[in-house]
Amino acid sequence: MQRQFEEGTTLDRFIFETTKVHADATGQFATLLQQVALASRLVAARVNRAGLAGMLGETGEMNVQGEFVQKLDIYANDAFKRALEHPGVCAAILSEEDEEATLTPDRFHSGRYIFCMDPLDGSSNIDVNATIGTIFGIFRRRTEEGTPATADDILQSGNEVVAAGYVVYGSGTVMVLAVDGQVNGFTLDPVVGEFFLSHPDIKLEPKANTYSVNEAYAYAWNPKLRRYIDHLKQGGEGYRARYIGSLVADFHRNLIKGGVFMYPPTETNPDGKLRLLYEAFPLAFIVETAGGRASNGSTRILDVTPTEMHARTALYIGNTVNVDEVEAALR
Ligand code: AHG
Ligand code: MN
Ligand code: MN
Repeated sequence: MQRQFEEGTTLDRFIFETTKVHADATGQFATLLQQVALASRLVAARVNRAGLAGMLGETGEMNVQGEFVQKLDIYANDAFKRALEHPGVCAAILSEEDEEATLTPDRFHSGRYIFCMDPLDGSSNIDVNATIGTIFGIFRRRTEEGTPATADDILQSGNEVVAAGYVVYGSGTVMVLAVDGQVNGFTLDPVVGEFFLSHPDIKLEPKANTYSVNEAYAYAWNPKLRRYIDHLKQGGEGYRARYIGSLVADFHRNLIKGGVFMYPPTETNPDGKLRLLYEAFPLAFIVETAGGRASNGSTRILDVTPTEMHARTALYIGNTVNVDEVEAALR
């Protein structure tokens, strides 16, 4: 039977109680989650002061994706890597910001887990104080603990994701975690510096009437998708649109209020724009745990096995009936 946690439970207690029931628990998973919470508190503090601390704007560099890197992208990337390299729980960290995965340095124990992250999602929203976030997914390594991780450890199918989460840095800082078959949301009390359970056992209704998509690219979509969205706009079904332009923020709103997020392939991004390992997989794992669905238009996202670390994918994610409808429209 699944444990229900009361609102107000601290994240620390939640981690302790969800991990101690596993007979094989070595404490590594608990430590991993605690370090993620530490890094996200550091990033939240920096995001809140960004305009004062000279943290707005671009660094002038371009990342592996050909996008301009923001100062906060780098801060967040370093904060998570630093928090995770030394406690002996990770074997490798794959980040949107780094071309190669970062293996745990020799002087530390190479632990059990592979951590895949978008350290700061929605960077184009940093300078306008709109919501941004961190997205992460966790695999267990395939090779033996204590040895350097290999590409095989990282290029695993979405079905091998063991836990996932995200943190939104918005009007409040909220961490949403999918572990142990349940999705729970924790809000950071900035005065106390601890996350408290605020959204217990998040579940999605079968159907919602909000869609999130960048319609400026409609000219470049598959015409079948264009017809489907046009149909939603006829008014009969009472649809509304919401698009922030931070996947993590759009996804969070849809998870709490219901809705389907779409990032279809376009002419400039024929494979879609979003990244499989550290954007689509984690959110797909979360949405399914909450009773929703995630698809690339024809295949369940978690059934995909990436062939490269920065692989991209089309993404349709949200309430089950809505994702079914998109797939049917595309057939
Ligand atoms: P990132 O800031 O990590 O590069 O991701 C930006 C992504 C995603 O957050 C968002 O949904 C999407 O880009 C917005 O893209 P468009 O401006 O093309 O709609
Ligand atoms: Mn992103
Ligand atoms: Mn990013």
